Amino acid sequence: MIVLGIETSCDETSAAVVKGTEVLSNVVASQADLHRKWGGVVPEAAARAHVEAIVPVIAEAMRVAGEPVLDAVAVTNRPGLVGALSVGVTAAKAIAYGRRLPLVGVHHLEGHLLSPLANGVHVPFPHLSLIVSGGHTELVHVLEPGRYHLLGETRDDAAGEAFDKAARLLGLGYPGGKAIQDAATGGDRYRYPLPKALSDQPYEFSFSGLKTAILRLVEKEGKQLDHKDAAASVQEAITAVLAEKAAAAADAFGAKALTLVGGVAANTLLRERLTRLCTQSAVAFFTPPLDLCTDNAAMIGIAAGFRLAANEHDSLDLEVSSTGEIPGSSH
Ligand code: KG4
Ligand code: ZN
Repeated sequence: MIVLGIETSCDETSAAVVKGTEVLSNVVASQADLHRKWGGVVPEAAARAHVEAIVPVIAEAMRVAGEPVLDAVAVTNRPGLVGALSVGVTAAKAIAYGRRLPLVGVHHLEGHLLSPLANGVHVPFPHLSLIVSGGHTELVHVLEPGRYHLLGETRDDAAGEAFDKAARLLGLGYPGGKAIQDAATGGDRYRYPLPKALSDQPYEFSFSGLKTAILRLVEKEGKQLDHKDAAASVQEAITAVLAEKAAAAADAFGAKALTLVGGVAANTLLRERLTRLCTQSAVAFFTPPLDLCTDNAAMIGIAAGFRLAANEHDSLDLEVSSTGEIPGSSH
């Protein structure tokens, strides 16, 4: 099955061609430069930029893959910015209609959850997954492709949002995760102790207290603030709580494997922490290569492949939605 995947849920216009889990092409046009001047994603500007990029990005994905004959078209239709999602879904419908192909609407987080399987990596099921992105921070028990059980999530900000807000407070630029990681290089991560909230709730997270603490730190230290050490301290606070709770959850569930997915999974310190903790507790650890952590269409094509294999697809009436539970999920 050769599937064209399309992803436009936020600020990345992406198209990919996959064959099962094999990634034949994965083209991503980032809008980071556009949104930088506002310090965050402006929905209307994102939608317009997707309109400009969508056709050339799809054409490039098809070219890199060698112009294959497609068997289906997959597209993220939820959750996300509705204006942004509509651009990808409209393009996907046009191609599906024009080529008489089945159309599959994919939940963005299901794409992230199945991203570690890319290129034939054998991840055992069931396993635990930590999703950490700009909009979500969740611990999920992944029973099999299509069946998920949400263990817990953030009560307020997502981990990526915490990185982005901290970067803004520290004047480090946008997008914040990578900016903090880069600024933290060589910094003293214990210089400014910051709170690691909700120690009594094993599967839940909270990052709003951290934001307040950083604000206070910036006010208190003023010009004295060492940005390198502050960035390192923020990165320490966020990654420690994520890694410790994910590893503890894997232990509690007797999970054979843990996956780390979503944009924040690109964080080197978080990857190192979980590699170490999982090795200690003999849990296999999987996280995709960096380009499949941040938003991409390859994961959307891969997730669609499992639905197509089960003879499922959607109609051309497919709708977009800003919200939506992961399919087959239970609490
Ligand atoms: O999954 P993603 O690309 O988009 C959403 O679905 O939200 O995640 C984007 C988030 C942003 O908040 C960004 O700051 C964060 O991922 N991020 C990182 C790193 N690279 C991206 N956070 C920490 N360290 C990184 N290296
Ligand atoms: Zn994402």
